Amino acid sequence: MQIILCESAEQVGRRAADIIEARVRQGPAVLGLATGGSPASTYAELIRRHREEGLRFGDVTAFTLDEYAGLPADHPQSYHSTIRREFVDHVDLDLAKLHTPRGDAEDLVAEAARYDLAIVGAGGIDVQLLGIGANGHIGFNEPTSSLRSRTRVKTLAVATRTANARFFEGDDEEVPKLCLTQGLGTIGESRQAVLVALGSAKAAAVQAMVEGPVSAFCPGSVLQLHPRATIVLDPGAASQLTMLEYYRDAQALNDGLQ
Ligand code: PGA
Repeated sequence: MQIILCESAEQVGRRAADIIEARVRQGPAVLGLATGGSPASTYAELIRRHREEGLRFGDVTAFTLDEYAGLPADHPQSYHSTIRREFVDHVDLDLAKLHTPRGDAEDLVAEAARYDLAIVGAGGIDVQLLGIGANGHIGFNEPTSSLRSRTRVKTLAVATRTANARFFEGDDEEVPKLCLTQGLGTIGESRQAVLVALGSAKAAAVQAMVEGPVSAFCPGSVLQLHPRATIVLDPGAASQLTMLEYYRDAQALNDGLQ
Protein backbone atom coordinates (compact mmCIF):
# COMPACT_ATOMS: atom_id res chain seq x y z
CA MET A 1 0.00 0.00 0.00
CA GLN A 2 1.24 3.45 -0.84
CA ILE A 3 -0.10 6.26 1.34
CA ILE A 4 -0.20 9.78 -0.10
CA LEU A 5 -0.91 12.58 2.39
CA CYS A 6 -2.38 15.75 0.91
CA GLU A 7 -3.20 19.20 2.22
CA SER A 8 -6.66 19.57 0.65
CA ALA A 9 -9.43 17.87 -1.33
CA GLU A 10 -8.09 19.60 -4.45
CA GLN A 11 -4.64 18.13 -3.92
CA VAL A 12 -6.20 14.68 -3.38
CA GLY A 13 -7.93 15.14 -6.73
CA ARG A 14 -4.68 16.12 -8.45
CA ARG A 15 -2.74 13.15 -7.07
CA ALA A 16 -5.47 10.66 -8.01
CA ALA A 17 -5.82 12.31 -11.45
CA ASP A 18 -2.05 11.96 -11.99
CA ILE A 19 -2.34 8.18 -11.62
CA ILE A 20 -5.34 7.95 -13.95
CA GLU A 21 -3.80 10.30 -16.51
CA ALA A 22 -0.54 8.33 -16.61
CA ARG A 23 -2.45 5.17 -17.54
CA VAL A 24 -4.83 6.87 -20.00
CA ARG A 25 -1.89 8.44 -21.88
CA GLN A 26 -0.33 4.98 -22.39
CA GLY A 27 -3.12 3.89 -24.77
CA PRO A 28 -6.44 2.05 -24.60
CA ALA A 29 -7.39 1.78 -20.94
CA VAL A 30 -10.13 0.24 -18.81
CA LEU A 31 -11.04 2.44 -15.85
CA GLY A 32 -13.15 1.51 -12.83
CA LEU A 33 -15.16 4.54 -11.75
CA ALA A 34 -16.56 5.34 -8.30
CA THR A 35 -19.50 7.57 -7.48
CA GLY A 36 -20.06 9.58 -4.30
CA GLY A 37 -18.59 12.71 -2.81
CA SER A 38 -15.02 11.44 -2.43
CA PRO A 39 -14.00 11.30 -6.11
CA ALA A 40 -15.57 14.68 -6.99
CA SER A 41 -12.26 16.57 -6.86
CA THR A 42 -10.61 13.83 -8.95
CA TYR A 43 -13.25 14.11 -11.65
CA ALA A 44 -13.10 17.92 -11.54
CA GLU A 45 -9.35 17.73 -12.14
CA LEU A 46 -9.66 15.17 -14.96
CA ILE A 47 -12.31 17.34 -16.63
CA ARG A 48 -10.01 20.37 -16.31
CA ARG A 49 -7.12 18.45 -17.86
CA HIS A 50 -9.43 17.33 -20.68
CA ARG A 51 -10.48 20.91 -21.38
CA GLU A 52 -7.18 22.68 -20.85
CA GLU A 53 -4.48 20.10 -21.46
CA GLY A 54 -5.91 17.83 -24.14
CA LEU A 55 -6.29 14.73 -21.97
CA ARG A 56 -8.42 12.40 -24.12
CA PHE A 57 -10.74 9.62 -22.99
CA GLY A 58 -11.67 8.36 -26.47
CA ASP A 59 -9.77 5.11 -25.90
CA VAL A 60 -11.19 4.53 -22.43
CA THR A 61 -13.70 1.85 -21.47
CA ALA A 62 -15.28 2.43 -18.06
CA PHE A 63 -17.04 0.22 -15.53
CA THR A 64 -18.74 1.74 -12.50
CA LEU A 65 -18.48 0.00 -9.14
CA ASP A 66 -22.09 -0.33 -8.16
CA GLU A 67 -25.72 0.60 -8.71
CA TYR A 68 -28.93 0.78 -6.71
CA ALA A 69 -31.32 -2.09 -7.34
CA GLY A 70 -34.66 -0.98 -8.70
CA LEU A 71 -33.52 2.29 -10.24
CA PRO A 72 -33.52 2.48 -14.04
CA ALA A 73 -30.37 3.95 -15.60
CA ASP A 74 -32.14 7.23 -16.35
CA HIS A 75 -33.32 7.81 -12.74
CA PRO A 76 -31.57 11.00 -11.57
CA GLN A 77 -30.06 9.24 -8.52
CA SER A 78 -28.96 6.08 -10.33
CA TYR A 79 -25.21 5.76 -10.36
CA HIS A 80 -25.42 5.64 -14.15
CA SER A 81 -26.92 9.15 -14.17
CA THR A 82 -24.56 10.27 -11.41
CA ILE A 83 -21.36 9.22 -13.16
CA ARG A 84 -22.56 10.85 -16.38
CA ARG A 85 -23.40 14.09 -14.57
CA GLU A 86 -20.18 14.19 -12.54
CA PHE A 87 -17.69 13.00 -15.12
CA VAL A 88 -18.54 11.18 -18.32
CA ASP A 89 -20.69 13.85 -19.98
CA HIS A 90 -17.88 16.40 -19.52
CA VAL A 91 -15.19 14.46 -21.38
CA ASP A 92 -14.92 12.59 -24.68
CA LEU A 93 -15.59 9.14 -23.22
CA ASP A 94 -17.84 7.24 -25.64
CA LEU A 95 -21.17 6.45 -23.91
CA ALA A 96 -21.18 3.06 -25.65
CA LYS A 97 -18.05 2.25 -23.62
CA LEU A 98 -19.58 3.26 -20.27
CA HIS A 99 -20.75 0.17 -18.41
CA THR A 100 -22.92 0.26 -15.30
CA PRO A 101 -24.81 -2.63 -13.71
CA ARG A 102 -28.49 -2.51 -14.70
CA GLY A 103 -30.35 -1.83 -11.46
CA ASP A 104 -33.71 -2.46 -13.09
CA ALA A 105 -32.77 -5.85 -14.56
CA GLU A 106 -35.52 -8.41 -14.08
CA ASP A 107 -33.01 -11.01 -12.87
CA LEU A 108 -30.50 -9.16 -10.68
CA VAL A 109 -28.47 -12.29 -9.94
CA ALA A 110 -27.96 -12.92 -13.65
CA GLU A 111 -27.20 -9.22 -14.22
CA ALA A 112 -24.49 -9.32 -11.55
CA ALA A 113 -22.88 -12.38 -13.16
CA ARG A 114 -23.10 -10.75 -16.60
CA TYR A 115 -21.41 -7.58 -15.30
CA ASP A 116 -18.60 -9.48 -13.64
CA LEU A 117 -17.94 -11.37 -16.89
CA ALA A 118 -18.10 -8.15 -18.92
CA ILE A 119 -15.20 -6.77 -16.87
CA VAL A 120 -13.17 -9.92 -17.55
CA GLY A 121 -14.18 -9.75 -21.22
CA ALA A 122 -12.86 -6.21 -21.48
CA GLY A 123 -9.48 -7.47 -20.28
CA GLY A 124 -9.91 -6.44 -16.64
CA ILE A 125 -9.66 -3.03 -15.02
CA ASP A 126 -6.39 -1.12 -15.37
CA VAL A 127 -7.07 1.54 -12.73
CA GLN A 128 -9.90 1.25 -10.23
CA LEU A 129 -10.88 4.48 -8.45
CA LEU A 130 -12.47 3.94 -5.03
CA GLY A 131 -13.94 5.81 -2.07
CA ILE A 132 -14.51 4.33 1.37
CA GLY A 133 -17.61 4.51 3.53
CA ALA A 134 -17.44 5.52 7.19
CA ASN A 135 -18.20 1.86 7.95
CA GLY A 136 -15.24 0.71 5.86
CA HIS A 137 -17.17 -0.39 2.78
CA ILE A 138 -15.70 -0.10 -0.71
CA GLY A 139 -18.14 -0.21 -3.59
CA PHE A 140 -21.25 -1.33 -1.74
CA ASN A 141 -19.40 -4.20 -0.06
CA GLU A 142 -20.69 -3.69 3.45
CA PRO A 143 -18.93 -5.05 6.57
CA THR A 144 -18.85 -8.89 6.59
CA SER A 145 -18.63 -9.04 2.78
CA SER A 146 -16.60 -12.01 1.63
CA LEU A 147 -13.09 -10.92 0.77
CA ARG A 148 -13.32 -13.01 -2.42
CA SER A 149 -16.82 -11.94 -3.44
CA ARG A 150 -17.75 -11.30 -7.06
CA THR A 151 -20.24 -8.78 -8.46
CA ARG A 152 -23.52 -9.59 -6.73
CA VAL A 153 -26.69 -8.34 -5.07
CA LYS A 154 -26.11 -6.87 -1.61
CA THR A 155 -28.26 -5.41 1.13
CA LEU A 156 -27.25 -1.86 1.99
CA ALA A 157 -26.32 -1.17 5.61
CA VAL A 158 -28.56 1.20 7.55
CA ALA A 159 -25.56 3.53 7.96
CA THR A 160 -25.07 3.63 4.19
CA ARG A 161 -28.72 4.38 3.50
CA THR A 162 -28.62 7.16 6.12
CA ALA A 163 -25.40 8.60 4.62
CA ASN A 164 -26.90 8.55 1.12
CA ALA A 165 -30.29 9.96 2.13
CA ARG A 166 -28.82 13.37 1.22
CA PHE A 167 -29.27 12.40 -2.42
CA PHE A 168 -32.92 11.39 -1.82
CA GLU A 169 -34.26 14.60 -0.26
CA GLY A 170 -33.02 13.51 3.17
CA ASP A 171 -35.39 10.56 3.38
CA ASP A 172 -33.67 7.24 4.32
CA GLU A 173 -36.76 5.35 3.24
CA GLU A 174 -36.34 6.59 -0.33
CA VAL A 175 -32.85 5.05 -0.56
CA PRO A 176 -33.09 1.60 -2.17
CA LYS A 177 -32.45 -1.31 0.20
CA LEU A 178 -30.60 -3.49 -2.32
CA CYS A 179 -27.80 -2.84 -4.74
CA LEU A 180 -25.50 -4.49 -7.24
CA THR A 181 -21.82 -4.10 -6.49
CA GLN A 182 -18.53 -5.32 -7.84
CA GLY A 183 -17.24 -7.81 -5.28
CA LEU A 184 -14.10 -7.49 -3.21
CA GLY A 185 -12.55 -10.25 -5.31
CA THR A 186 -13.51 -8.37 -8.48
CA ILE A 187 -11.99 -5.14 -7.17
CA GLY A 188 -8.92 -7.07 -6.07
CA GLU A 189 -8.26 -8.12 -9.67
CA SER A 190 -7.82 -4.54 -10.88
CA ARG A 191 -4.22 -3.95 -11.92
CA GLN A 192 -4.02 -0.73 -9.90
CA ALA A 193 -6.35 0.64 -7.22
CA VAL A 194 -6.57 4.28 -6.11
CA LEU A 195 -8.68 5.04 -3.06
CA VAL A 196 -9.47 8.66 -2.18
CA ALA A 197 -10.82 9.68 1.23
CA LEU A 198 -11.71 13.11 2.59
CA GLY A 199 -12.64 14.38 6.02
CA SER A 200 -12.45 13.18 9.60
CA ALA A 201 -15.69 11.19 9.29
CA LYS A 202 -13.60 8.69 7.31
CA ALA A 203 -10.61 8.70 9.69
CA ALA A 204 -11.53 5.58 11.69
CA ALA A 205 -12.35 3.58 8.54
CA VAL A 206 -9.08 4.70 6.92
CA GLN A 207 -7.08 3.73 10.01
CA ALA A 208 -8.72 0.28 10.09
CA MET A 209 -8.18 -0.18 6.34
CA VAL A 210 -4.49 0.78 6.39
CA GLU A 211 -3.27 -0.25 9.83
CA GLY A 212 -5.83 -2.77 11.08
CA PRO A 213 -6.01 -6.48 10.30
CA VAL A 214 -7.33 -7.72 6.94
CA SER A 215 -10.91 -8.33 7.89
CA ALA A 216 -14.30 -8.68 6.23
CA PHE A 217 -15.53 -6.32 8.95
CA CYS A 218 -13.52 -3.54 7.30
CA PRO A 219 -13.95 -4.39 3.61
CA GLY A 220 -11.45 -1.71 2.54
CA SER A 221 -8.73 -3.67 4.35
CA VAL A 222 -8.78 -6.15 1.44
CA LEU A 223 -6.60 -3.57 -0.34
CA GLN A 224 -3.76 -4.71 1.91
CA LEU A 225 -3.72 -7.80 -0.34
CA HIS A 226 -3.69 -5.71 -3.52
CA PRO A 227 -0.33 -5.62 -5.31
CA ARG A 228 -0.66 -1.97 -6.32
CA ALA A 229 -2.96 0.11 -4.12
CA THR A 230 -2.54 3.82 -3.49
CA ILE A 231 -4.48 5.55 -0.71
CA VAL A 232 -4.80 9.33 -1.16
CA LEU A 233 -5.92 11.23 1.94
CA ASP A 234 -6.66 14.76 3.11
CA PRO A 235 -5.62 15.73 6.66
CA GLY A 236 -8.99 14.82 8.18
CA ALA A 237 -9.09 11.35 6.63
CA ALA A 238 -5.46 10.72 7.70
CA SER A 239 -5.96 12.02 11.23
CA GLN A 240 -6.17 8.66 13.02
CA LEU A 241 -3.22 6.99 11.30
CA THR A 242 -0.48 6.10 13.76
CA MET A 243 2.52 5.99 11.37
CA LEU A 244 2.13 9.38 9.70
CA GLU A 245 5.81 10.19 9.97
CA TYR A 246 6.75 7.02 8.11
CA TYR A 247 4.18 7.67 5.36
CA ARG A 248 5.54 11.22 4.98
CA ASP A 249 9.12 9.97 4.70
CA ALA A 250 8.16 7.32 2.15
CA GLN A 251 6.16 9.85 0.14
CA ALA A 252 9.07 12.31 0.09
CA LEU A 253 11.43 9.59 -1.15
CA ASN A 254 8.96 8.33 -3.76
CA ASP A 255 8.21 11.83 -5.03
CA GLY A 256 11.95 12.46 -5.23
CA LEU A 257 12.47 9.34 -7.36
CA GLN A 258 9.81 10.32 -9.90
P1 PGA B 1 -18.71 9.28 -0.28
O1 PGA B 1 -19.08 7.73 -0.18
O2 PGA B 1 -17.62 9.36 -1.28
O3 PGA B 1 -19.97 9.93 -0.78
O4 PGA B 1 -18.32 9.70 1.08
C1 PGA B 1 -18.06 6.80 -0.20
C2 PGA B 1 -18.68 5.45 -0.04
O5 PGA B 1 -19.71 5.34 0.66
O6 PGA B 1 -18.14 4.50 -0.59
